Amino acid sequence: MSDLVLAIETSCDETAASVVEAARLVRSSVVSSQVDQHARYGGVVPEVASRAHVELLVPVVAEAMVAAGVEGRDLAVVAATTGPGLVGSLLVGVSAAKALSLSWDVPFVAVNHLEAHLYAALLEEPDLEMPMVVLLVSGGHTMLVVMEDHGRYRLLGSTLDDAAGEAFDKVARYLGLGYPGGPAVDHLALDGDRSAYSYPRALVQENPATLSGDRRYAFSFSGLKTAVVNHLRSDPDASTVDVVASFQEAVVDALVTKARWAIEETGVRAACLGGGVAANSRLRERFTEICEGAGARAFLPPPSMCTDNAAMVAAAGWWQFRREGPSPLDTGADPNLGLNLIG
Ligand code: KG4
Ligand code: ZN
Repeated sequence: MSDLVLAIETSCDETAASVVEAARLVRSSVVSSQVDQHARYGGVVPEVASRAHVELLVPVVAEAMVAAGVEGRDLAVVAATTGPGLVGSLLVGVSAAKALSLSWDVPFVAVNHLEAHLYAALLEEPDLEMPMVVLLVSGGHTMLVVMEDHGRYRLLGSTLDDAAGEAFDKVARYLGLGYPGGPAVDHLALDGDRSAYSYPRALVQENPATLSGDRRYAFSFSGLKTAVVNHLRSDPDASTVDVVASFQEAVVDALVTKARWAIEETGVRAACLGGGVAANSRLRERFTEICEGAGARAFLPPPSMCTDNAAMVAAAGWWQFRREGPSPLDTGADPNLGLNLIG
């Protein structure tokens, strides 16, 4: 049997398809971003997104298959992201994947988008040592997870309010930097002084023992966003590059501090990043430093695998198929799908 997986990803505003062999060799990865169609609204418009997926999906899948040099009958699995995400967007990819699975007579596998982000690092390093700590930071989620094994995830903590990417997008929007805000802030911050302003680091104190239970690994970014907005209102002449550099440093500080606690407390030997914010240059730098300091190997997926793509969906789908076999063809899109957690 072949080890080729065709995966389709349409959970938000990227229409993506990819063919990956044995969860490690990316034969093709096509990502068609709709960013230009949403930018003028300052964020993703669900109706615009689903319509664009309908238009783009067939050419994107065809390109992925041609670039990989494969045909339907060569595939072992057709996988698709079934959630979480925008329901109208998810439905486009899920329906297409099921139709292809039926017409090619190839098993269908329903993939969780969060699980796919966890697998981005494993694409490059399939032999990563588990258990490992994964910091998953995207536009919709911020969570610290211990990956005990394939399919076995333990949640240490998540955000109590905004996701890290959401904070980047909101601050960028206030500053008129366009959508999505993360890459713009990352770029501008390179010229700024990150210690110019001291913004709050919520739920981060010197001694993790002083933070009890659920709060130890929890994150909170909405107060930080408000602090930046209040600062700009009271000091409209503040240097934009210094503001974004100081804001970014506060986000990164909170993220890496808790990642370090998690590595130290669990004693894992490996840690990795996932999700769109994992493309952030300062987060990558600081995460590498804290892993070295804590004696764990750091794995950073290339930025193109951090933001939404279908190669990570193919990798997660391949491992899932090996564990659990095909998913029922009546599996639907689930906008609120959570990670299947243990413990
Ligand atoms: O994982 P992703 O592509 O989509 C979701 O599943 O949410 O993440 C998108 C998020 C956006 O909030 C975007 O601003 C952020 O990732 N992002 C970044 C960078 N590149 C993307 N944030 C900070 N720095 C970046 N370089
Ligand atoms: Zn994502």
